[in-house]
Amino acid sequence: MKITVVGAGAVGATCADNIARRELAEEVVLLDIKEGLSEGKGLDMLQASTLLDCDVKITGSSNNYELTANSDVVVITSGLPRKPGMTREELIGTNANIVKGVTENILKYSPDAIFVIISNPMDTMTYLALKSSGLPKNRIIGMGGILDSARFKTYLSLALNCSPNDLQGTVIGGHGDTTMIPLTRLATYSGVPVSQFLDAETLQKVAADTMVGGATLTKLIGTSAWYAPGAAGAILVESIVRDQKRVFPCCVYLEGEYGQSDICLGVPVVIGRNGWEKIVDFELNDEEKAAFNKSADAVRNMNDVLKTLEL
Ligand SMILES: NC(=O)c1ccc[n+]([C@@H]2O[C@H](COP(=O)([O-])OP(=O)(O)OC[C@H]3O[C@@H](n4cnc5c(N)ncnc54)[C@H](O)[C@@H]3O)[C@@H](O)[C@H]2O)c1
Repeated sequence: MKITVVGAGAVGATCADNIARRELAEEVVLLDIKEGLSEGKGLDMLQASTLLDCDVKITGSSNNYELTANSDVVVITSGLPRKPGMTREELIGTNANIVKGVTENILKYSPDAIFVIISNPMDTMTYLALKSSGLPKNRIIGMGGILDSARFKTYLSLALNCSPNDLQGTVIGGHGDTTMIPLTRLATYSGVPVSQFLDAETLQKVAADTMVGGATLTKLIGTSAWYAPGAAGAILVESIVRDQKRVFPCCVYLEGEYGQSDICLGVPVVIGRNGWEKIVDFELNDEEKAAFNKSADAVRNMNDVLKTLEL
């Protein structure tokens, strides 16, 4: 198994490091446009491997796509991150060109790869990667909901004073501060609805904190976060390469599911060796449906911006 991570910045390097630590492939390639960055970080990870008993070949590449040839999975993290006060959507112009170019270059050498898109605005970048590549829809997966769900579970565990390992919680919809939908109704603490333990006001605060989870970190750190985003990318890759069939909220192309079409949006999907294999299309209540449709409208507006760009 060979996995390439494009973008050796904060998220890409963390994702590659997690992939290597979990030995998800025999070979991991880290590619960046900045001369020396990926080689340096790759070598650093290789040295860490000798301490941590990991047996993975890690190669850095300064924009040489030949080294990525025959990758099974490619994770795209290249692009600008947001700065304090910025929305993910403000990154569209620069990142659209980067994501489109990277996708084309990767496909020259790895025509059968499954793509995981992390660059923001992720829902629109996933749509762009799908439309510009013409690949089968199951091979393009946007990662945002796994991270947002991790943040949801973090805030729930803090409110409940319990281990996040006992919690189930899913965030669907767009990967934006105002477009994501933490499904508080369906969250459970060891199978028991969290509403049995937390009052409505606390649950509302958990949902609100989740939605601005990324912005909170960006304000604290000065740039967007990387530990949880990198880990979220790696567990998505793990479910692909180990064919685990895990159900994760991922950004995928909808053709009528959840009442939406011609859009990539976060919904629960089964992730396995073929990419996303099945959409879990369950019934939302009226309030959730309205929020989902509103989220779709916002993402569709963002997708329309692509038409105004010279790509
Ligand atoms: N989807 C999510 O859940 C999520 C979470 C966090 C961050 N992000 C996004 O991930 C992206 C990366 O964030 P980061 O914090 O790692 O940023 P970063 O600036 O640390 O790293 C980005 C890297 O991309 C590289 N790059 C730029 N253009 C490139 C190209 N054409 N080819 C190869 N490499 C190129 C840069 O040199 C840089 O090293 C941002 O768009 C950010 O908003 C998404």
